[in-house]
Amino acid sequence: MQDLISMRDISKEEILNILEVAGDIKRVIHGPTTDSFSKKYGTEWSKILEGISVATLFLENSTRTNYSFRAAVVKAGGTVDGFPTQDHTSLKKGETWADTASMFAGYGYDALVIRSTEEGLPRWTKEILTQNNQQLSNQHQEFGIPFSYKVPSIINGGDGKNQHPSQCLLDLFTMQEIARSQGKELDGLDLALLNDIKHGRTISSLISVANLFNFRLHFAYPNRFGPTEDVVKELREKGVKVQDYETDFTEALRNSSIAYHSRPQKERVGQGEDFEAIKRIGQINRSIYDSLGKNAPFLMHPLPIDAETFAEISEDMRDHPKNVTKYQSSNGLYVRIALLGICAGRIDSEIKTETASIGTTLEEIALHEHRQKLDNPVSGYIRNSGIVIDHIPPGMGRRLAGVLGLEAQEVRKVISDYLPSSKQGGLKDLVKIHGNYELTSEQHDAIALIAPHATINVIDENVVTRKYQIRLGQNVTGRIVCVNDGCISNVEKEGIQPKHYIEQTGENTKLRCQYCEVPDTVDKAYKQNRFVYIGE
Ligand code: CP
Repeated sequence: MQDLISMRDISKEEILNILEVAGDIKRVIHGPTTDSFSKKYGTEWSKILEGISVATLFLENSTRTNYSFRAAVVKAGGTVDGFPTQDHTSLKKGETWADTASMFAGYGYDALVIRSTEEGLPRWTKEILTQNNQQLSNQHQEFGIPFSYKVPSIINGGDGKNQHPSQCLLDLFTMQEIARSQGKELDGLDLALLNDIKHGRTISSLISVANLFNFRLHFAYPNRFGPTEDVVKELREKGVKVQDYETDFTEALRNSSIAYHSRPQKERVGQGEDFEAIKRIGQINRSIYDSLGKNAPFLMHPLPIDAETFAEISEDMRDHPKNVTKYQSSNGLYVRIALLGICAGRIDSEIKTETASIGTTLEEIALHEHRQKLDNPVSGYIRNSGIVIDHIPPGMGRRLAGVLGLEAQEVRKVISDYLPSSKQGGLKDLVKIHGNYELTSEQHDAIALIAPHATINVIDENVVTRKYQIRLGQNVTGRIVCVNDGCISNVEKEGIQPKHYIEQTGENTKLRCQYCEVPDTVDKAYKQNRFVYIGE
């Protein structure tokens, strides 16, 4: 494991490994002996990061994440630098993030911890630095000068509403400690997820691992701050038990052993929210806790608490024995030493993450032995050579031709719509391209997205010489604009191609943005006109 960009990227095994290392670091720091740690890991804990340089690049304010990472590096023997806001950098002069991050890679930092307001920026950084490193390496080679810098590890210190994986690890670590003190394990805990479920990246990160630990989730939230339908649907599809208490916080607390409260993300919420109502519904105070008696759940919160606007944990809860928020944040140090040690390769982690395969595949359909003549009285003939894209969903042929860039090219084409389809027993569209024409890989991706059951017939001398279908791979690049305005791929200045994971293919292919991780469907993209037209 070299990077930590999203909790979706790592397995349960990897998570438990990080928690185990963090637990060993915590025990050795608090004594009394360091021997067993050195024996197990082949290094003293205070030298885990010796020779390792880390930069914390923070585009959004932070107390805990930034300074606990910095403390982790120093305590474990490494060196650290960076910036706490973009005001300290040439971003203020209009520079791109890609150029900013490339500077730190070019100065040989081993790891970059990044916080951003845009979702997906850390993943984009990994990509751009990989390209940058290759270019630097090539140029050194050309000039006959050795080059040894590696692409730095990227650790996401929180990207917009999306993910905050190191916080999630310290939250899981704290939950594991609490569970074990009660004779339980992480698996099967009842968790109340409270307050800003919609915009908070810490809750979003916990939700993304809920299925791995069989958590039962109890949601309570002020109006419009609840989980989206997509989130609840996905959780249920993964077998996670979800209970929705809407504004009844007390009932959610009563049914949980750990409550995870959160700050309303007023910096990410649109205008017009009634902050007083949010405060009234979401504030947890001593009288609520007293009403729950000795079965009240342990109270966690990633912090900071917004004492100015919401006081979501009221002052009278500060010393409550079940309030473990400060204990929780102190665990950030041990977890972040463990994480950096594993990412830097200083602590063995045998566990490997599989990489996804990319690209579409073309599946040939057998032709008749005598090479079938294109003889379709409904659609007419292609004379000599051409391509027929058949079995396009009805009404989508014109849009497909547009996306393929055929409108912008000087090619003769015919679009036939709402034809009877003997194969599908319904209707279909059909696009014919006359003349010698070869479809590119980009066009194949577009066909597989928009018309997953299309068949492509290549015609030569009035005879079908090749017939095939297209299957999407696990990713698709540049074909659909991300649905999330806050995604880094929608920041024009950076010039990023949108990328999507393919989660399910078929009638309405399901996608997930590779940067901001927001789910999407081809149908939604079609209705919202978010296809990228090839050649434009
Ligand atoms: N929990 C957390 O991310 O806090 P900071 O914003 O202070 O880093």
